[in-house]
Amino acid sequence: MTSDGRVAVVGGGVIGLSVAWRLSGEYAVTLFDPVPARGASWVAGGMLAPATEAWPGEESALELGEESLRRWPGFAAELRHEASDPGLSTAGTVVAAADRADAEHLEVLAAYLHGAGRHAEIVSGRTLRTMVPGLATSVRRGLSVPGDLAVDTRKLLGSLRAAATRRGCHIVCEEVTEVAADRVVTAAREHTADVVVLAAGARSALLHPQLREAVRPLKGEILRLRARRSSLPPPDVTVRAMVEGRPMYLVPREGGELVLGATQYEAGYDETVTAGGVRDLLERAEQVFPSVVEYELVEAAAALRAASSDTVPLIGRLDDGVYVASGHHRNGLLLAPVTADAVLAQLGGLPVPAHVDAAHPRRYLAGRESA
Ligand code: GLY
Repeated sequence: MTSDGRVAVVGGGVIGLSVAWRLSGEYAVTLFDPVPARGASWVAGGMLAPATEAWPGEESALELGEESLRRWPGFAAELRHEASDPGLSTAGTVVAAADRADAEHLEVLAAYLHGAGRHAEIVSGRTLRTMVPGLATSVRRGLSVPGDLAVDTRKLLGSLRAAATRRGCHIVCEEVTEVAADRVVTAAREHTADVVVLAAGARSALLHPQLREAVRPLKGEILRLRARRSSLPPPDVTVRAMVEGRPMYLVPREGGELVLGATQYEAGYDETVTAGGVRDLLERAEQVFPSVVEYELVEAAAALRAASSDTVPLIGRLDDGVYVASGHHRNGLLLAPVTADAVLAQLGGLPVPAHVDAAHPRRYLAGRESA
């Protein structure tokens, strides 16, 4: 596409805003979202964690995640320079195992990471408690993964929105009801563009027939807590845990906040916070970091991850004039830099970043060839 081309980005979460920011300046970009900088990105824990999200058989997701993590410091520095601090935390991550079965799960992960040449150190429960004061005395084993980072999603979204706007991106607060070739149809009117990029998270599935089976909503609930003056401060690092076979995480934010996440359900487009979800999160968190029960409960929220069946996103050309950047599963925040760089390269006919090929939507386009 020539540099005077017009691009319509559908979706203003972390992926849509990152793509819009990267493309603005190169192209004339309009972003459509009824409520930009919200949705799943607003609710997310913000872990940038390819290693602790890894699992045997999901090598493509690990490699793509690591490629994006390498880009994160530069991405954050550019945002800081162009707009505001996006809240990248380099404090690292630990994983805690509460019982024998959880410790076995952790050992499978550690063996997989070691086999793949990744740095992750198994430590005793006692050592983990010296690294993270306040961890439950019942924690049996731990894994230290200093390379897995986190970002303050709300600072990031504000920074991306400001940076994209400063580069000339025009934001239209309207719902897109239909996308066909180079057309974005909103409730108000029809907009034409040379290229449309579908980055509407789980709702991308509703916008294009090729995405109906490829992307699905995967509900998650989170809690935000805040330490009180009398309570133990939150951990400095991200704490992930297996608790009776169920995963959870505690991600610290500046100012004594702690994000607890997340439930995971197949519930269609339901975004209700349930009492059961809140109970599960609090019960699991208390088994890992007992002081959470003394914290102030600040927020309970639910949102929809954009899941894909192989946990790898879809990044690339779908159709004439239509590209997709969706299906980021549990890793939208992590994968924002590599996704934005990939879409920029694809539109400019340049080589895409390493490992992005595994994310090409052609794997879902049965019987159709897409460049
Ligand atoms: N990235 C963690 C989650 O999706 O819950």
